[in-house]
Amino acid sequence: MENINNDLELMQTIFKPNRALSKQSRIKNICEYEDLCLDAEEDYEAYWGNLAREKISWIEPFKQVLDESKAPFYQWFVGGKLNVCYQCVDRHIQKRKNKVAIIFEGEMGDYKVYTYRRLYREVNQTANLLKNRFGIKKGDRVIIYMPMIPESAIMMLACARIGAIHSVVFGGFSPEALRDRINDTQAKLVITADGAFRRGRPYMLKPAVDKALEDNQCPSVEKVLIVIRNNEPIEYIRGRDYVYNEIVTLESSQCEPEPMDAEDPLFLLYTSGSTGKPKGVQHSSAGYILWAQMTMEWVFDVKESDNYWCTADIGWITGHTYIVYGPLAIGATTIMYEGTPTYPNHSRWWEMIEEYRVNQFYTSPTAIRMLHADAPDEPDNYDLSSLRILGTVGEPIDPSAWKWFYEKIGRGKCSVVDTWWQTETGGHMISPLPGATPMKPGCATLPLPGIQAEILDEEGNKKDVGEPGLLCITKPWPSMIRGVWGNPQRYAEGYFSQVKSKDGKPIYFSGDAAFYDERGYITIIGRTDDVINVSGHRIGTAEVESAIAKHKDIAESAIVSTLDPITGESLFAFVVTTPNTSCDLKQHMSLLPELNALIREEIGPIAKINNILYVPGLPKTRSGKIMRRLLRNIARGEPIKQDTSTLENPNIVKEIIAIAQGKNA
Ligand code: WT7
Repeated sequence: MENINNDLELMQTIFKPNRALSKQSRIKNICEYEDLCLDAEEDYEAYWGNLAREKISWIEPFKQVLDESKAPFYQWFVGGKLNVCYQCVDRHIQKRKNKVAIIFEGEMGDYKVYTYRRLYREVNQTANLLKNRFGIKKGDRVIIYMPMIPESAIMMLACARIGAIHSVVFGGFSPEALRDRINDTQAKLVITADGAFRRGRPYMLKPAVDKALEDNQCPSVEKVLIVIRNNEPIEYIRGRDYVYNEIVTLESSQCEPEPMDAEDPLFLLYTSGSTGKPKGVQHSSAGYILWAQMTMEWVFDVKESDNYWCTADIGWITGHTYIVYGPLAIGATTIMYEGTPTYPNHSRWWEMIEEYRVNQFYTSPTAIRMLHADAPDEPDNYDLSSLRILGTVGEPIDPSAWKWFYEKIGRGKCSVVDTWWQTETGGHMISPLPGATPMKPGCATLPLPGIQAEILDEEGNKKDVGEPGLLCITKPWPSMIRGVWGNPQRYAEGYFSQVKSKDGKPIYFSGDAAFYDERGYITIIGRTDDVINVSGHRIGTAEVESAIAKHKDIAESAIVSTLDPITGESLFAFVVTTPNTSCDLKQHMSLLPELNALIREEIGPIAKINNILYVPGLPKTRSGKIMRRLLRNIARGEPIKQDTSTLENPNIVKEIIAIAQGKNA
């Protein structure tokens, strides 16, 4: 109870940005922030057009800022030509050739430093390799299934250089999940590594690629390119598999960047939705890189001599925008760390911040909660005085974790930026500005200048203070999703059909619920759809249900989210077993290991059921839709507020509640 009261009080407290920090920030106070918002409001196209002209090295200038004629299929910076790799690497060669672009630290303590010149050389050689040896052309898709090593960034940039569309698949995904993504993109080439190091041990990636490709299950794939990282023995298939480290040095270090259309896809990144298989979120070249740059400057306020560190994995959008593209586009020094925060102990991150004099540190609430819970005073032993800005992303941060982060890591002097955004938005959308926005624990605060974020009801009416509503973006923005790969309908219906528009212009609905406070600050509540946020990872309930449906004892299931003190949410399964099941249902957990093994096979270790309840049936509407909200209430032990009399089988609710209570008793 005391904790809850503390949290409530903290949630009302405002923390002003440190004055010294404000003075040196790009946006120094809330008036400057508002001026920028007004600029955007007065002339939206001029605002974005000016930024794009100033920030992008165009090969050919654009002719039109925004084409809305085929909305919601928007086009930005129409007619402009650029190359994102040029933007991230070549243009720094003049002024910053000896500046460090990437600092890599391996989990075992090894490290590697890339200056912009070295990065330029290796990216060019790699681009030539992809082009000459593997015949990769503009528009071809390339899968990158890699660990957290600098070669992953090099592969992404090399693809961008020759106009190939990369799709990075998180190294924790299973061979099945990898196979789905390969087949959906029809990739010609898969780039991987033998493996990497995690928790002090080698782990393997190449065998997962072999498994995904076996029995010709991915007919589009012609070759596999392997980066050697941990030197564990792997199998090679003659004529298909090539070792990067052996052949890349034979290539020339000059490769002309391909002139790309502003709207040409830069990459695809798969993410889970409410229904069906993960969707390939398609991002553009110019709009994406523009916003990656702007947010690096405004939200992280990165200066020329700063060392910037984002702890995400390149397999997620955070890694794309805030480890690779954003930092490199502004010529910053970006730190990449291979492993876990707890190897060899809980001070690994604090040690690295001290060692590299990190100025911006961007991480997840789950990691903060874990380090807070397991080693709360460990940061005291390190010099963290270089830090100016701390960031969080991926899930709501609870006020007590925020406070620990602010006080123990930031020593009460840093700004904490709670950044709300999504795979689909390409970059930050709602976040405090470090020198300008008074902070409020657990609150993402205000939309960034130019971003029209609003909380609406389904009819498109704005919600009042304190009322939960649908978090929408009512105007297109440059770094927005351009489509769902191969499925334009899923794009149009999945994002633009839930909220009615007043002026006929489509409204983007994020899938999140949120509310305003009296200041107009936006607090994110969480997903309204069947997506569960576990440790900041999006897990589609449909994917998990279809994985466990493969078990012979499972007739039907519904996965809902319950709360977890470390991971934020976790998976709770309501399971109906087949009539002749062999499992002992009194042993509540009995099926769990088998079900989790299936999920691991289909998706990967990021998805795992923590709780299971065997029930005689699931509550459904007359049209057969499972009432997930109701199940969620039961899973969380919350009172049921919905009317259950119209259910197909109203009695089932009482039965399920009795079973749930019996289990807890
Ligand atoms: C979902 C997007 C954005 C990169 C990582 C996740 C949740 C994201 C916050 C935040 C509360 C947040 C939302 C969103 N989310 N940031 N600061 N506070 N919730 O990207 O996998 O596309 O997930 O993450 O629910 O919709 P993603």
